[in-house]
Formats: sequence, structure tokens, C-alpha cells
Amino acid sequence: MKIRKAIFPVGGLGTRFLPATKAMPKEMLPVVDKPLIQYAVEEAAAAGIEDFIFVTGRNKSAIEDHFDHSTELESVLHSKGKTDAVKTVQEMMKTPGSVSYVRQQEPAGLGHAVWCARNLIGDEPVAVLLADDLILGSPALKEMCDEWTGGNMVATMHVDPAQTSSYGIVTPGKEIGNLIEVKGLVEKPDPKDAPSTIAVVGRYIIQPSVFATLSTHSSGAGGEIQLTDALSREIGKTPFFGYQFSGTRFDCGSKLGFLQANIAFALERDELKQPLQDWLNKIS
Ligand code: UTP
Repeated sequence: MKIRKAIFPVGGLGTRFLPATKAMPKEMLPVVDKPLIQYAVEEAAAAGIEDFIFVTGRNKSAIEDHFDHSTELESVLHSKGKTDAVKTVQEMMKTPGSVSYVRQQEPAGLGHAVWCARNLIGDEPVAVLLADDLILGSPALKEMCDEWTGGNMVATMHVDPAQTSSYGIVTPGKEIGNLIEVKGLVEKPDPKDAPSTIAVVGRYIIQPSVFATLSTHSSGAGGEIQLTDALSREIGKTPFFGYQFSGTRFDCGSKLGFLQANIAFALERDELKQPLQDWLNKIS
């Protein structure tokens, strides 16, 4: 079965980026010249996703505008002969009807945001992408979709033992290539209690049954409704694997990760690579 739909939860407050996120969505922060959310949408499209579902909240209308026509801008660019710029703003447009928005009325947690999209999903598995987990290199969701044969799947990576309290952490079972069986999942454990250093990052393929589990609205770490808690309740009922993706992930929800992403992505650009490298050499 093909994964056709993806949920993009963008309803969080982005408090770690205040004051930048007071009136602007965190997911619109640019890495080089593209907002985080656009990278996530492009990754989903590369994985064959056809329906793009955004779970928004207050102050998130810039995301809707970003994925819509800007007729005034386009006509000005046309009249000035800026055809490359017209192409840049037009080629990111999706087929009419393939983008939907659901409002999360309060930021009650990632699990709650995903649950808010339930009526648009129906009875099929769905991908979930967190835009602030930015992945450089091979598109992680495509790698996951290529390996997925059913059940639940999360993207995983090894983290420093001291960092387990920032992640959902996996109790690993058998390993088959890049796949790790998930035998347990705990949200943000202290390093002394962590079952491993295998962390979940923001790419998921989830079964529709997860929505029923989320509907109990049980809150977990930080008093929020956690997606990992709902997934952990599915263990034993359906196959569940972690997938060790090949790209490099940047935590763009943190200032350091965001700055590192900007440097790493800029170094991939032909026009920026050399001058940026020269400047980095000079200041180091
Ligand atoms: P974070 O855990 O980074 O939370 O959310 P946040 O509110 O965005 O940021 P901080 O921690 O206050 O700085 C991870 C992703 O889940 C979404 C966010 O928009 C982000 O893309 N999210 C989180 C929701 O959609 N709703 C929520 O209630 C919480």
C-alpha cells in the first residue's frame, strides 16, 4: 500500500525562538532562502505524497499564504521580466485541492495536533513530518516509504547519552539492515533511565488506529499529549520499526541547530560555498 497523505503539525508556539516567533510561525524561519516548512513539503513530495495536510494554530496564516498564489507579486515580477523569480514562486504550488488546513485550537502537544487531522485521513496509513527536523541529504521520508511494508515506523538516529531527555527513546529489538524493531518507546527519559540512545526524530508513518489511541487525550511529558506515547501503546498490536535514515538531521527548533543548518545548507549551494568557506576559515 502506498502512503498518499502527510500531516505537517505546525501548531506549536515556538517559544524557544521568541521574539522571532511572536507574530511569525517558527516553520517559516528560512534556512538560506527557503522556509523550513517548504523543505518538509518538498521531502514529502519526493516520497510520493499527494495530499498535504497542515495542522495550524494562531499566527500561522503566513504558511497558508506561502503555499498559495501571490497574484500581485507574480504580476510585478512578470512586468519586470524576472522570469526566474516567477518560476521560483510558482513551481512550489501544489495541485488545487491537494493542500488542506485544520486548526489546532490550543497547542496541547504533537499527539493532539496529529489527532486534529483525523477526519481528513480516513482508514489509511499516513506520514507525519515535523518541519523543524531538517534533513540534509537523501530524503528520509522516501527512504522510509521504500522500506515500509505495514505497521508503524519512525525515523531514528543515535544521540549523545546526555541528550536523551530531549527525545522519544526506543527500546530496541532485532535489527534488519536499517530497520530496528521498536520494543518500547519512552518520551524524554533522564539519561539514567533511558533504554538506549536511539532517538525518534520527526518523520513517522502511522496506522489509522493511532488516531483512536490519541482520542483518549492522555497527557504525558510536559503535560502535553505526546505522539510517542500513543505509538508506544500500539506496540505488540502491529509491526513497529525505527528506520535509521542516511541524511544528516538538524534540530531547527533550537537556535544552535538552526544556525548549523543554515551553514550546512549554504555550503551545498554553488554560489555560496566558496565565499562562505573563506569567511569561516577567516573567523575560526
Ligand atoms: P516542538 O516540540 O518543537 O514545540 O514541536 P514548539 O511549540 O513548536 O516549540 P518550542 O518548544 O515552544 O520552542 C515540534 C513540532 O510539532 C508542532 C510544532 O509546530 C512543531 O512543528 N506542534 C507542537 C504542534 O503542531 N502542536 C503542538 O501542540 C505542539
